[in-house]
Amino acid sequence: MLSVKALHTEYPGAGGQAIKAAQDVNFEVPEGKLFTLLGPSGCGKTTTLRSIAGLERPRAGEISVGGRVMFSADAGIFVAPNQRNFGMVFQSYAIWPHLNVFQNTAFPLEVRKQKLSRREIEERVMRVLHAVALDELAERDATKLSGGQQQRLALARALVMEPQLLLLDEPLSNLDAKLRERMRFELKRLQRELKLTTVYVTHDQSEALALSHEIAVMNEGRVVQIGSPREIYERPRNRFVADFVGTTNFLDAKVLSAHGGNGHCQVSTPFGTLDVQCGETLGTNTAVVISVRPEDIELTEQAPARAEGINVITGTVHGKAFLGEYLDFQVKVGDSVLLARAHPSLRTPIGEPIHMRMKVEKCVAIPNA
Ligand SMILES: Nc1ncnc2c1ncn2[C@@H]1O[C@H](COP(=O)(O)OP(=O)(O)OP(=O)(O)O)[C@@H](O)[C@H]1O
Ligand SMILES: [Mg+2]
Repeated sequence: MLSVKALHTEYPGAGGQAIKAAQDVNFEVPEGKLFTLLGPSGCGKTTTLRSIAGLERPRAGEISVGGRVMFSADAGIFVAPNQRNFGMVFQSYAIWPHLNVFQNTAFPLEVRKQKLSRREIEERVMRVLHAVALDELAERDATKLSGGQQQRLALARALVMEPQLLLLDEPLSNLDAKLRERMRFELKRLQRELKLTTVYVTHDQSEALALSHEIAVMNEGRVVQIGSPREIYERPRNRFVADFVGTTNFLDAKVLSAHGGNGHCQVSTPFGTLDVQCGETLGTNTAVVISVRPEDIELTEQAPARAEGINVITGTVHGKAFLGEYLDFQVKVGDSVLLARAHPSLRTPIGEPIHMRMKVEKCVAIPNA
């Protein structure tokens, strides 16, 4: 449905040098799917989204939607933004101050070519206002809204059009944690229900994991990995992705031998030999890092029995942090400290020995580049 090919977008820099904000960005978003651009501040997410919207003119590449070319550097095609018919919510959103909440939301429906009846407009407007929890403020002047309410209004206005392509840049950034979570569910429900093809921009990994069919992780203007939330989280292809998406432990290691077939291999670490998951074929002696998430380390006071498919490392409790639903343990092994997430009922005192059980498929080898 949306296809972005070899996109390069630059800004003029201060010293005459171009700022390469998006470099060789490639991805496809199938009809009805929600695709997320995830990455740290300044990595080029907004630039990529604005390029799709036609608000930036890329230096190279091609963008097409539903088979229609919107931009092609080679063919010299550039469709004006207002001809693209996309719904958009940008990081800085604009609402119309002279209209109330209902009128703001209804406006795009009233000005569009295919006319709807009063009743149809009212139904659609109230449905999206309900989804963004503004139905009770429908009569309120738009200027008398809080920042978060204005943001939800901007979202309602983009959704009401049920556009061919919806472009959302951090649309939930101004909401408090509770409301953001609720809106996340509503947005997901609406997107799935209306089958809106959506490109979603966020630097919040939990938002990306919760909402997306597919995620592109960006760093320094480039896409570094594309995959389903589960693939990105469980099989990060490089250190940046493993580190940015969630919390993880890294262990330096060296490949001893590939087991073949099952994608497992054996590595040596300062804490002994481990069986780990190798995403790609890694040759003997390759330096790698092993990524293990804190929630994938099971802590036990009693030494666990040796078992197939399980790695065990023994250390001592170095520190603890109580976080309500769980307890973070810092476990010292040799010169390293690993983070493990445990149930608050585990009471092992600091300085005492503790065993860490880790499933082989949760220990992921990543090339140490
Ligand atoms: N109008 C502009 N002129 C010059 N440089 C710009 C402009 N807009 C963005 N940049 C630069 O381009 C790079 C990418 O910016 P972009 O806004 O795409 O990042 P982002 O991933 O959306 O970040 P954030 O999460 O902070 O919104 C940054 O280095 C930024 O400083
Ligand atoms: Mg941005």
